[in-house]
Amino acid sequence: MPLWSGRFEGGLDQSAWEVNASLPVDQRMALQDVRGSLAWAKALVKAGALTQSEGDQIQRGLKEIAAEFEAHEFEFKAGDEDIHTAVERALTELIGPVGGKLHTGRSRNDQVATDFRLWLMDNIPALVAKMERLQGALLGRAEADFGLLMPGYTHLQRAQPVLLAHWWLAHFWPLQRDRERMIQVAARCGVLPLGAAGLAGTPLAVDRRALADELGFAHVSPNSIDAVSDRDFASGFLYTAALTGVHLSRLAEMMGLFTSQEFGFFELDDAYATGSSLMPQKKNPDIFELARGRAGTLIGLLTGLLTTLKGLPSAYDKDLQEDKEGVFRAFDLLSGLLPVLAGALDTLRVNPAALAAAIEPGLMATDLADYLVARGVPFRQAHGETARLVRRALAQGKPVSELPLEAFQEVNPLFEADLYTAFDPQRSVERRRAEGGTAPEAVRVQIEQARAALQGSS
Ligand code: ARG
Repeated sequence: MPLWSGRFEGGLDQSAWEVNASLPVDQRMALQDVRGSLAWAKALVKAGALTQSEGDQIQRGLKEIAAEFEAHEFEFKAGDEDIHTAVERALTELIGPVGGKLHTGRSRNDQVATDFRLWLMDNIPALVAKMERLQGALLGRAEADFGLLMPGYTHLQRAQPVLLAHWWLAHFWPLQRDRERMIQVAARCGVLPLGAAGLAGTPLAVDRRALADELGFAHVSPNSIDAVSDRDFASGFLYTAALTGVHLSRLAEMMGLFTSQEFGFFELDDAYATGSSLMPQKKNPDIFELARGRAGTLIGLLTGLLTTLKGLPSAYDKDLQEDKEGVFRAFDLLSGLLPVLAGALDTLRVNPAALAAAIEPGLMATDLADYLVARGVPFRQAHGETARLVRRALAQGKPVSELPLEAFQEVNPLFEADLYTAFDPQRSVERRRAEGGTAPEAVRVQIEQARAALQGSS
């Protein structure tokens, strides 16, 4: 029987019941719901709304219910509309009519907002740990692959040589920002809605500050109408999840390319690759494609919640019941994915010969222009002259490094025999020593920074 049935003569149509009920989704917050109720019962005793003995009975009943949830022995009944109803119903069965006193001065509106915030506060740390684990895998790759060079790409065209370690860390830092954001999301959940009641605030002399302390909230919501309708924390979670998805997707896109025969830079371990039911030779990076695919789903979940919120009248509206499914889904999608990606990176094989073969002299064209710059030529002029040399080499079907000295000197007499050192890729990366650059000494500093970022979090 719904908590609100007294107002109605007839029962709810079965199909309407199924649309209205939220138990399949919100039972995931069972322990948070009981915790919120335990704190509320205590607050009611302090406020004089329950006798000590009533409070004790309710506490005992709720603890028994929590133990049943923990042991997965709690029995839901057909009439349980949502997790709040299920707990109140079970409590009344356990301790009798006094269980009906628990809901004094509160509403499911503030209760659900409290449960939801608590759930995220409880569960975000595990997700953060998984993000950290993937960062650890990226850092591990940077350390293991330290001396190797690869072509760096812009517009997916070969641009300049970079350290493979530098490239790995380019995917570490976005996750560092995501992880910091995720920790902030948990902090933003720490505002207590309980005591807002339906919308106007509870008429009881409840000490909401003490209630917040009891439940681990840093703050108390300053406005009861806002408290029951605020889903910024859920939107923030979905934004952070979506952005993490975007970052994983960009890494995944490169993993797909770099494990292809065309690049051949990496090979996935069999434990993280899949085959084709038709083509016996295939070794597919499905895991990374799913990461790319899930990013689309995560963006959709964020868009879904924001769209739900944008037209809502003030205070609570039932539309808000749709908020949890997307958040749980996003949480599960990322929770499942992050450790798999970490495992795939840990076990990846790098092909140094393929990396080296992809570094052709054209990648050092900027270094050649810089050679002239070092001899006083304005960069714009040096760029144009180097481009002419590149064009000439292309027309002759050979690398620019194989043009004779005279060809260089024809374009600019400042060129001397030592110009050919500009084509050394090792020298090219070593020149980029400024903080954040790809020189081995700069990347060593970066690795230290990445280590510190991970240590700072544990
Ligand atoms: N199941 C509801 C939800 O998830 C709880 C709040 C219901 N409030 C109400 N006035 N019907 O949002």
